[in-house]
Amino acid sequence: MILSVLFCLVCMMGNAFGGEGYGIELERPPYKLATNQPKDRSYEVREYAAANWTSTQMDSASSKSSEAFMRLFKYIQGRNAAGATIDMTAPVTTHIAPGPTIFDMKRTMSFYIPQDFQADPPAPTDTEVYIEERQPMTAYVRSFPGWASETENWVNVYKLFEDMKRNGVDEDTVDLTSFYTAGYNSPMRFIKRHNEVWLLSKTPNRT
Ligand SMILES: *[C@@H]1O[C@H](CO)[C@@H](O)[C@H](O)[C@H]1NC(C)=O
Repeated sequence: MILSVLFCLVCMMGNAFGGEGYGIELERPPYKLATNQPKDRSYEVREYAAANWTSTQMDSASSKSSEAFMRLFKYIQGRNAAGATIDMTAPVTTHIAPGPTIFDMKRTMSFYIPQDFQADPPAPTDTEVYIEERQPMTAYVRSFPGWASETENWVNVYKLFEDMKRNGVDEDTVDLTSFYTAGYNSPMRFIKRHNEVWLLSKTPNRT
């Protein structure tokens, strides 16, 4: 009883912090829906425009996701050549590239740079943080709720690929060397959490 009351209070707090749990609606990278959506709507096909992101590697065993997040968060809080404060955006993506051996797994966490700074992002002063200009990309996107553990991400990327094949996507056109995870909520949000995994097309549509 007491536990459920407590839990509900926590829910309401999470909800009160705004749409995504950061206190405000966050700017997102622009995309268009591709014309070839799957008939069963099990995933979405999006065409993202070229955009600058700020990124950091988390490729060693000691590099926890919270540490990578803090490096990027400090960059937007002013740890950059202009001393500029940059708004938080959504999603936070992690690019996962497994590599040839179990020790080569490369994970890169990124924040999208908001429009105000897109054309000329201030240089990071932390040497572990860099600006990454992403080319236009066509992403196959599967959404799922809850807390995205590493296992949940892998399970969902498997399901996504199964759904894509069932819908007639030619697997030779898909980049299967890596995938993205995308998280849209702050850790302070406890309900209606939205997560995605993305597989990219080898050749983006440039419509
Ligand atoms: C990304 O930033 C660079 C400057 O660092 C700029 O030349 C480029 O046009 C920007 N890319 C986009 C897509 O705005």
